[in-house]
Amino acid sequence: MKTAIAILDFGSQYTQLIARRVRELQVYCEIFPWHTRPEKINELNPAGFILSGGPSSVYEENAPALPPFILQTGLPVLGICYGMQLLAQALGGKVCASTKKEYGLAEIETTNPNALLTTAHQSVWMSHGDQVELLPPGFSRLATSTNTPIAAMGDPARGIYGVQFHPEVHHTPRGLEILHAFVNDICGLKPDWTPQNIIASSVARIRRQVGSASVLSAVSGGVDSTVATTLVHRAIGSQLRTVFVNTGMLRLNEAEQVETVLKRHLGIPVVTVDASNSFFAALKGINDPEEKRRVIGAKFIEVFEQEAARDGKPTFLVQGTIYADVVESSSPERSQAQRIKSHHNVGGLPENMKFELVEPLRYLFKDEVRRVGEALGIPQQLVWRQPFPGPGLAVRCLGEVTHERVQRLQLADAIFREELENAGLLIQKPEPGSPRLAQAFAVLLPVRSVGVMGDQRTYQETVALRAVNSEDFMTADWAHLPYDLLGRAANRIVNEVPGINRVVYDVTSKPPSTIEWE
Ligand code: XMP
Repeated sequence: MKTAIAILDFGSQYTQLIARRVRELQVYCEIFPWHTRPEKINELNPAGFILSGGPSSVYEENAPALPPFILQTGLPVLGICYGMQLLAQALGGKVCASTKKEYGLAEIETTNPNALLTTAHQSVWMSHGDQVELLPPGFSRLATSTNTPIAAMGDPARGIYGVQFHPEVHHTPRGLEILHAFVNDICGLKPDWTPQNIIASSVARIRRQVGSASVLSAVSGGVDSTVATTLVHRAIGSQLRTVFVNTGMLRLNEAEQVETVLKRHLGIPVVTVDASNSFFAALKGINDPEEKRRVIGAKFIEVFEQEAARDGKPTFLVQGTIYADVVESSSPERSQAQRIKSHHNVGGLPENMKFELVEPLRYLFKDEVRRVGEALGIPQQLVWRQPFPGPGLAVRCLGEVTHERVQRLQLADAIFREELENAGLLIQKPEPGSPRLAQAFAVLLPVRSVGVMGDQRTYQETVALRAVNSEDFMTADWAHLPYDLLGRAANRIVNEVPGINRVVYDVTSKPPSTIEWE
C-alpha cells in the first residue's frame, strides 16, 4: 500500500519545511537529493512527488534536471517554484527570466476552479527570478498575480500541478491547505502518521534490526536520547543497558531529575556513572571554548568505552540522531557552511569503536520526537524542555570551568528560570504560532567588578542573563522580558549566590551574536 510522499530536493532553503508541513498533515514523507537513484526512491513506494524550489535556472547548462522516471510513474506531482519550472520545461512549455522580479508577499487570483487552489484569492510568498511563460500542452493556468501571469498551472487529468509561490512557508497563510489538497485529495493519502503508529513501526523495526543481541544506550537527559532509549526499551526490554554519565556540567538538580524520570516514570533501569570529578580535572586550566568542547567530547568517549567494556562489548549502540541532522549532512551545499562552533553532541564516537547503530529517530523531526515522547508517557517538563548544549554548563561558564564556578552558575541559572516560571514565561508546550521563549539561561563571566554590600567593598564576578525567541535557532531575537522580572532575578542572584555582585542582560540578537556565549 502506498503511504508516503517523496520530496525531491533541488537545493531550496525551504526543502526541510516542505517535509515538515507534509508531516504536520500526518503523512510520511522523505527528502531525496534530486539525483538519487530511482530504485532508492521507489523503495519508499511513494503515492506522489513534490519537487522543491532551487537556486538555479532550468535553462542554464548543468542545472539540476527532472529525473525522467518521475513522469513515467504516472503518479501525481506538485512542482514548487523551480520544481514548477522543471515540469513546464520537461513537458513542452517555456521558462524564461521574469522582467519584474518577485520577492515577498503577492496576491494571487484563482483563474480556474481546481482541486489544488480552493479559494478565489489569497496571499502567497514569492521568491523567483524566472517564470513559466508558455504552458505545456494539456495544462491550464490556475492562478495569476500582478507580476506573474502564470502563478500556478495544472493538468488535473494527469495529477500534475505547479505553483510559482511557496506554500510551505508560514508567509503563505493558506499554504498548508494547498499541501493538504495535494497530499490528501490528489494523492489520496490518509493522515496515518500518528505518534501511536510511529511507535508501533519503530518498535517492529528495532526488533528486526537487533534480534537477540545486546544494546547499550548513553542518555544525557535531553529529549532525543530519552525518547530514543525509551523506544528501544519498549522494543527489547532487558536486552538494553542504559548508562547515564553525569559530567558535572548539568543544571541544578538535573542529574537527579534524569534518574527519576528514567527509573520511576519510565521503568528503565539506569546505571549512573558519576564522572564529574574526572571532567573537572580534564578541564583544569582550559579557557578556550572549542578546546572545552574537544576535551569534553574526548572525556565522554573515555568514560563510555569503560562502560562498554564492563558490559562485555554490546553489538549495538542507541543514538538519538534526528532527521534534520540526516538531511543537513546529505546536502553538500549545506554541510559546506562555515563552522562557527563545533556543535558535536557529547557522544560522537570515534571510528574505531565498532558498534552498529540503532537510530530510532532517524526519520523524525524534532516536533515529532516530542509528540512520540508524550505518547510514550515521558513527563511534559522533559519532553518540551528547551535545548541544552551537549557540553552543558562548560560553555556557559566563561573562563576556567571549576567546581566552585559551576555551582555559582547553577544557582544563578536556577533563580532566573524560577522567576521566568513564576511569571508563566517558561511555557512547556507551545501553542502553534504563539511566541515562546526558545532558550533562557544564565552565563557566568570571568569579569570582576567593584560593588558594595552593607558597608563592605566587594570585588566579585558577573552573571549575564540571556533569553531569546527563535523558531529554528539559526536566527534569534533577544527577548523583551519585563523589567521588574529582570530586576527581581538580578536582586535575588546578588543576594543568594555567593561570589556574584553584578547582573547584566544580553540585548544582542543572532546574528551578529550567537545564542550561547561560547
Ligand atoms: P548558537 O550558540 O550557535 O546555538 O547560536 C544554537 C543552538 O545550538 C545549541 N548549541 C549546542 N548544542 N552542542 C550542542 O548539542 C554544542 O556544542 C552546542 N553549542 C550550542 C545552543 O544551545 C542553541 O540551541
